Amino acid sequence: MSLINSESTLDEIKETVLSLLNRAGNDPKSAYRYIVFNTLSDDFPNARYVVLRKFDKIELELYVYTDYRSDKIHEIEANPRVSILAYDKQKKFQIKLKAQATLHYKDEISNHHWNSINSGKESYNTELNPGKPIESITEGHKLKPEIDDKYFTVIKLKIQFMEVLQLNKEGHIRAKFDFENNNEAFLVP
Ligand SMILES: Cc1cc2nc3c(=O)[nH]c(=O)nc-3n(C[C@H](O)[C@H](O)[C@H](O)COP(=O)(O)O)c2cc1C
Repeated sequence: MSLINSESTLDEIKETVLSLLNRAGNDPKSAYRYIVFNTLSDDFPNARYVVLRKFDKIELELYVYTDYRSDKIHEIEANPRVSILAYDKQKKFQIKLKAQATLHYKDEISNHHWNSINSGKESYNTELNPGKPIESITEGHKLKPEIDDKYFTVIKLKIQFMEVLQLNKEGHIRAKFDFENNNEAFLVP
C-alpha cells in the first residue's frame, strides 16, 4: 500500500512525512529509524547509517547521537550542511532531506539526552578513538575505565529542504518542500 496517491495534496504529503519522522524518533521498529547521514568529506561525500533518536515536528529538527571523536564531527565542523536519506521498502517511499547540523557536546541538550539513555552508553566510551587503525579486533572493544559522557555528542539537524518519492505502478509521485524559501511543488518523478 502506498503512503500517498494521486489524490494527495502537498499539505497532506507534508503532514504524512512529518508524522513518519516523528514515529521514527519514538519507535525502534519504524522503517525510518535508521537513516543514511551524509556529510561532506575532503574529496568525497561521506555516508553512514545512524539512528534517528528524536524528531521535533514543530521545529523540524532531528536528533542523532555520536562520539565526539568520530570523523563526522570534523566534517560537520568544516561544513554543517548535511543530507539525509531514508527508504521504506514496504511502502516504496523515499525521503531526502537537506539540513543544517549543530553539535551539542557537554551542554544542556547533550546532558538531557545522556540522562534519557537506558542502554548502549558504552558505544560512546571506547578507549581508543573511533576510526583508529588497530592491531587486533579486541583493541577496538576496550572501554574507558568510566562509562560517562566525556565524548557523547548530540547532532541536531534542522531540516531546510525535504523531497519525497512514492514509487507507484500507476505513476510515481514526487514532491519538494523548501522550508527556507517557503516553496513547495510536485515534481516530475
Ligand atoms: C544500523 C546502524 C546504525 C548506526 N547508528 C549510529 C548512530 O546512531 N551514531 C553513530 O555515531 N554511528 C552509528 N552507526 C555507525 C556509523 O554508521 C559509522 O560507522 C560510525 O559512526 C563512524 O562514522 P564516521 O567515521 O563517518 O564518523 C550505525 C551503523 C549502523 C549499521
